[in-house]
Amino acid sequence: MKICIIGSGGREHAICNTLSKSKNISELFCCPGNAGTKNLANNFNLNLENFEEIKNFIIENKIDLVVVGPEKPLVDGLVDYLERFKIKVFGPNKTASQLEGSKIFTKEICKKYHIPTSDFGVFNNKIDTFKFLENSNFPIVIKADNLASGKGVYISQNMEEAKFAVNEIFDGKFGVAKKILIEDFIQGEEMSYFIISDGKTIKNFGTAQDHKRVFEGDKGKNTGGMGAYSPSRMINKELEDKILNRIIKPTLRALEDLGTCYKGFLYAGLMIYNNDPYLIEYNVRMGDPECQTILPKLKTDLSEIFLACCEEKLHKKNLEWIDKKSLCVVLCSKGYPENYKKDVMIEGINKIKLLDNDYIFHAGTSEKNGEVYAVGGRVLNFVSLSENFLTSKENVYRNLKKLNWTDGFYRKDIGYKVIK
Ligand code: GLY
Repeated sequence: MKICIIGSGGREHAICNTLSKSKNISELFCCPGNAGTKNLANNFNLNLENFEEIKNFIIENKIDLVVVGPEKPLVDGLVDYLERFKIKVFGPNKTASQLEGSKIFTKEICKKYHIPTSDFGVFNNKIDTFKFLENSNFPIVIKADNLASGKGVYISQNMEEAKFAVNEIFDGKFGVAKKILIEDFIQGEEMSYFIISDGKTIKNFGTAQDHKRVFEGDKGKNTGGMGAYSPSRMINKELEDKILNRIIKPTLRALEDLGTCYKGFLYAGLMIYNNDPYLIEYNVRMGDPECQTILPKLKTDLSEIFLACCEEKLHKKNLEWIDKKSLCVVLCSKGYPENYKKDVMIEGINKIKLLDNDYIFHAGTSEKNGEVYAVGGRVLNFVSLSENFLTSKENVYRNLKKLNWTDGFYRKDIGYKVIK
């Protein structure tokens, strides 16, 4: 089977790596890919906004199945487009992708289907937003309605911070933002919960906790994710039943009522308080770096899982997992999430000898003349699996020290809540 993975991040390298172990795979393609996927797949620099170009590439190369990694092409309707040409695609359609594409769409579903989440208001101009904020309690959560690569969320402690956030969003920091969402702040601890679905059957695809803030102690600006560990320290049977019955199943029912269904990965970003889950947001893809953290634990052939999802046969697949603790630390370019240098060489990356259960997944990298260059903010993901989080963490930091990339930085406290 020939599979094409769309995307170029750590998540897509982890997917390529897992698929490359499958006996069913004759050839892998990754579009556009990165320096890591290049070792496993044929990278091809397609324009992800040009669906016709993608479709022609898939047909010309006789690709059997397409896996869409990032949210943007999903929200733009790539799945709907390719399916019109009878191409098998793993990922949600355009309507279902609104769960991530519009935070207001999701909030309206929550209201109608009594899904636990924070109270919210929607505003479409600065004057009304500021008026509302004058009578609000702080902290308060301010979000751009549109896609913002995980960065359009502000937790404002006071009016000054709130005004800064509103101005950034309406002034176009995350693209054209016609609407803004203001939510009550929910107390608790964040957890990422994943399912995989074929439109009829859903299966658990792991749990994780990620560190979104750039600095140690979970301080500083939000990023795409500085590290993660899996499983979440909070997951238990009672909590999982509540997540499924109060949040996931009513959401899937809402999509059914809209005349559609959900196929692909669904990532619920949750706040857990007193063993009760509250929905913060949905993402219509695997998390990044959660994917890099979770996938090395998968025992079942991933190509068979993707195929089963495209053929509505997920009920026939038993998903098996390695019972280990996984931890991931993201190595970033100095300056991220603000300005950082591009095209910086990462010396010695190909010489690092990894032990079994240790992984390096590339994200913002590119290969030129056999050398690896950093071209993005989040550059490499160091992952390790072991019997306990402490050992996994020690393995990861040992490998980071071996690389010793002086143009990069990483958080030294990933997993501090599960490691004393
Ligand atoms: N880890 C956060 C995200 O994938 O959006």
